[in-house]
Amino acid sequence: MLKSWNDFGISIFSKMAEEATKNDAISLAQGFPDFDPPPEIIEEAVNALRGGFNQYAPSKGYLDLRVAIADYVEQRRQQKYDPDAEISVFSGATEALFCAVIALCEKGDELLTFEPFYDIYPGFALAAGARYVSVKLDTPDWGFDAEELRLAISNKTRVILLNTPNNPSGKVFSRAELELIAELAIRHDLIVVTDEVYEEIVFEPNQHLSIAQLPGMKERTVVVSSASKTFSVTGWKIGYALGPAKFINRMRTIHEHTVFCSASPLQKAVTKAFQLPSQYFEDLRRDYAQKRTFLLETLKKAQFKCLVPQGSYFVVADYSAISELDDEDFAVWLTREIKVASIPMSAFYSDKESMKKRRLVRFCFAKKPETLQESARRLAQI
Ligand SMILES: Cc1ncc(COP(=O)(O)O)c(C=O)c1O
Repeated sequence: MLKSWNDFGISIFSKMAEEATKNDAISLAQGFPDFDPPPEIIEEAVNALRGGFNQYAPSKGYLDLRVAIADYVEQRRQQKYDPDAEISVFSGATEALFCAVIALCEKGDELLTFEPFYDIYPGFALAAGARYVSVKLDTPDWGFDAEELRLAISNKTRVILLNTPNNPSGKVFSRAELELIAELAIRHDLIVVTDEVYEEIVFEPNQHLSIAQLPGMKERTVVVSSASKTFSVTGWKIGYALGPAKFINRMRTIHEHTVFCSASPLQKAVTKAFQLPSQYFEDLRRDYAQKRTFLLETLKKAQFKCLVPQGSYFVVADYSAISELDDEDFAVWLTREIKVASIPMSAFYSDKESMKKRRLVRFCFAKKPETLQESARRLAQI
């Protein structure tokens, strides 16, 4: 368990980014698109910059953005959230998740999550003084053991932190899995925080379901999402949280006393983004499905064994037919020799040492067709 910020060291993400630059490699490592967002939302950001939206926004976010989020959520889930009391804007899902954990976990509480996890979660627990407890999602289908989950809940557990679709595994939690988690949350009176930033990137026949949609869950769930992945604007850092007013109010207090407000002109542009026609979201899914197929075929030809992701824009690949190196050494070798960067999967586990020997790396396919084609050409050299 991490006891101090000094325990983190240099992140593997920074290390792989540096290796990629030094070796002139294509980076399929970090999770962001190498293409632009829809031109109309760039236009809207420019209009907002020229139209006077250059000063602090209200701390909870502009009302028109909160209304646009409420409408978007209602269309998708037939669930109503009050834009005034139950929706707040944050500087990315990251800040919303940070505020949720700090607001909802007391010192000494336990934060229960699943691993592999989005690597910044353990830091939230550290900041809150909470103990980080995780249940393993395991290959080949990233399922979890119901008994392990039951046993992981103690009288100190306060929050379950979920991520569906999951980064890095691409797992989309099924209705049955969410029902089990919901039943335990209700029985033990737990709060659920659910990170759903990849909610729009889900591949047929899988469907995104938020645990907040299950009976008895809306009143104990904070849903966190973001414009980053849905609109290909990871550098804008506009995220949001939906939930019961008593939780959102506590999160607003943390936000108000740290970041205070999120970038004003970008909030205006994201308001427009949430009003895009449904065709935009269909095209996004179709484009990502094509990229997923292309990368899966490329990796298969290069002798990787891949787990087919149900959602997100990542593929986890087993390289045991290619090399016996540990995952970090393999990722460095692939960057230096083949000139394609990836992320070693051990980065997403608490027990990094034993995971290094599982020989898994993560590739990101949020890339232009030409980037993916050039990666295919390079990987074919293996
Ligand atoms: C699971 C998950 N949650 C949150 C984020 C960050 O979202 P944002 O850019 O809105 O802070 C990421 C980014 O990679 C992610 O993978």
